[in-house]
Amino acid sequence: MTSPKKLFIKTYGCQMNVYDSERMSEALGGQGYVETKTAEDADMILLNTCHIREKAAEKVYSELGRMRPLKEANPDLKIGVAGCVAQAEGGEIMRRQPLVDLVVGPQSYHRLPEMEAKLQQGQKALDTEFPEEDKFERLKARPKAKRGPTAFLTVQEGCDKFCAFCVVPYTRGAEVSRPATRILEEARDLVERGVREITLLGQNVNAYHGTGPDGSEYTLAKLIWDLDKVDGLERIRFTTSHPNDMTDALIEAHGTCAKLMPYLHLPVQSGSDHILKRMNRSHTAESYLRVIERIRAARPDIVMSGDFIVGFPEETEADFQATLDLVEEVKYGYAYSFKYSTRPGTPASERAQVDPAEADDRLRRLQALITRQQREIQDAMVGRTVNVLFEKPGRFEGQMVGKSEYLHAVHVPDSGCVAGDIRPVRIVSTGTNSLGGEMLG
Ligand code: SAH
Ligand code: SF4
Ligand code: F3S
Repeated sequence: MTSPKKLFIKTYGCQMNVYDSERMSEALGGQGYVETKTAEDADMILLNTCHIREKAAEKVYSELGRMRPLKEANPDLKIGVAGCVAQAEGGEIMRRQPLVDLVVGPQSYHRLPEMEAKLQQGQKALDTEFPEEDKFERLKARPKAKRGPTAFLTVQEGCDKFCAFCVVPYTRGAEVSRPATRILEEARDLVERGVREITLLGQNVNAYHGTGPDGSEYTLAKLIWDLDKVDGLERIRFTTSHPNDMTDALIEAHGTCAKLMPYLHLPVQSGSDHILKRMNRSHTAESYLRVIERIRAARPDIVMSGDFIVGFPEETEADFQATLDLVEEVKYGYAYSFKYSTRPGTPASERAQVDPAEADDRLRRLQALITRQQREIQDAMVGRTVNVLFEKPGRFEGQMVGKSEYLHAVHVPDSGCVAGDIRPVRIVSTGTNSLGGEMLG
């Protein structure tokens, strides 16, 4: 028996990459790898990358540059690039950075073991195809290790929406939904290993249309109701949704399914109908607001979250003002805002760009408004009782931190709780990014 080889994975980008990194680690586990927390002692380094904005993609090359000394110190070290940059740039990565041994796109992770074997023979390996086979089925074998109380579970991948700014339809491919039976099996397995909260993932998660256990076409709402029956699973979340795919049944579930948490991430991108049209978003500001109205009718205390892009080509000050107006109306508990970044191959990349200084200024103004709203919603939690799923010890002796149903981080001194407990907590203080609470009773 040789001693296990060490694998270091660095994950960028969205939650789906976090999930995929876990799957890759398990797949390479079968090849004798164990994960290490430091690149310095690794036999293989995998960068799981993101291509969404230019900065994200460029980070990969600077990180690879920093790895040169490691490769010089250990010529047997294998360096791989996975994720959306791998998909978008393929073999170009090896040309630009010859120290890369392996490039693997998100749809080919189940082929990692074969690719790794090739590396061991001194060859390079590249796979960025969209194969017919179901990668999730082939990635299934996993050790039954204990887990923390929260987990991600990919149910849908890819996107057919083609927003004019976005690379995801090209890097993740066409929308594919996993069969419900497999998702339910995976959920039960996670619960057996200690998970209490599952976040269902998909680039367009609410467009989920997998095969149901009875062979019929399933929706996300149906899947959620099946998960609701899984004993030991206490909380369900899902992300990311598109406004056009918020069906009546899904909205209703927010009012009637006790395990479905009162938090919804529903990106809108802009409040201007002209810009929404140019973005190919296929919804208007008004139709988005009406969806939120219906969600709030079903679940009045729901906390809303969203994504925004400022400085999209042709965006005028009036268009931007419409975004501010929309934010004022919604009142977000969280929101993520980005300056438009030109992505190669996307329709918007060929249009007249907004002056970068103007875009920076808009981003600042939008973020100031969002921060104020976030604070208001956090401050309004003081005095309320929330249920906290405790996840880990805090920074101070005896302190535990967890998440409320609204996804606020809550820390509690001397809670007497362990990770995985869900307990009522009274909120007594609010900080920049978290709330302070005390145990009830
Ligand atoms: N599938 C999700 C998320 C896609 S990426 C969705 O449909 O909402 C996450 C966010 O990144 C997007 O919501 C958008 O706000 C932002 N984003 C995507 N492409 C971008 C670009 N070219 N420039 C700036 N932000 C971008
Ligand atoms: Fe990108 Fe639009 Fe698809 Fe979201 S819906 S992944 S923003 S193309
Ligand atoms: Fe980035 Fe790919 Fe996710 S581009 S946001 S890692 S789907």
